[in-house]
Amino acid sequence: MTRPDDIQLDPLLSAEQIERRVGELAGEIAAVYGDAPVVLVPILSGSLIFVSDLVRKLPMDMVIELCGLSSYRDGETPGQLRWTLGPPRNLDGRHVLVVDDIVDTGATLGRVVDTIARQQPASVRTCTLLLRTGADRSDPVADTEVDFEGFRIGRGFVVGYGLDYDGRFRNRPGISVVRRDEDET
Ligand code: IMP
Ligand code: MG
Repeated sequence: MTRPDDIQLDPLLSAEQIERRVGELAGEIAAVYGDAPVVLVPILSGSLIFVSDLVRKLPMDMVIELCGLSSYRDGETPGQLRWTLGPPRNLDGRHVLVVDDIVDTGATLGRVVDTIARQQPASVRTCTLLLRTGADRSDPVADTEVDFEGFRIGRGFVVGYGLDYDGRFRNRPGISVVRRDEDET
């Protein structure tokens, strides 16, 4: 069992880098939707900080429908997916944009998109701040496409800017990679 004190954080993305990229992402999103009203569906809790920065840079008319889907991670190990809020409803005929913090296996985003797609939306697109490359996307619903991505990252569990390790570190302004002392072999 790792004690909190054994955790080291190695900086990966600064608050300034994130802010710049979120601005660019908003531009990419606005270019696709134009003036069309959008239903934004953030997946809590990880996307909390990202989505709050993103929406203030988006000009179109929107409503925000929060949902929560948690994989009940024990630290870094993913478990069963469970709705903690939602699922989102009444999306027929709407343009829906799902927003998450990080796509790892794609199971979480895939489940949300699947749930929305059954409701005959006008469109459903996806946006993630981080996309882990080389991840095991073996889940059946995990071939979900990401339409808007902030940064590609490699292996290593990351925290900050809304992302947590056992609930901690969400409030850090930048993103860091977690290193535990036992990782050093
Ligand atoms: P997926 O279902 O495997 O794609 O995992 C996505 C979810 O797991 C994200 O919404 C995050 O909440 C969480 N997650 C995955 N990787 C990390 C990480 O490196 N740090 C923090 N949370 C993560
Ligand atoms: Mg999440």
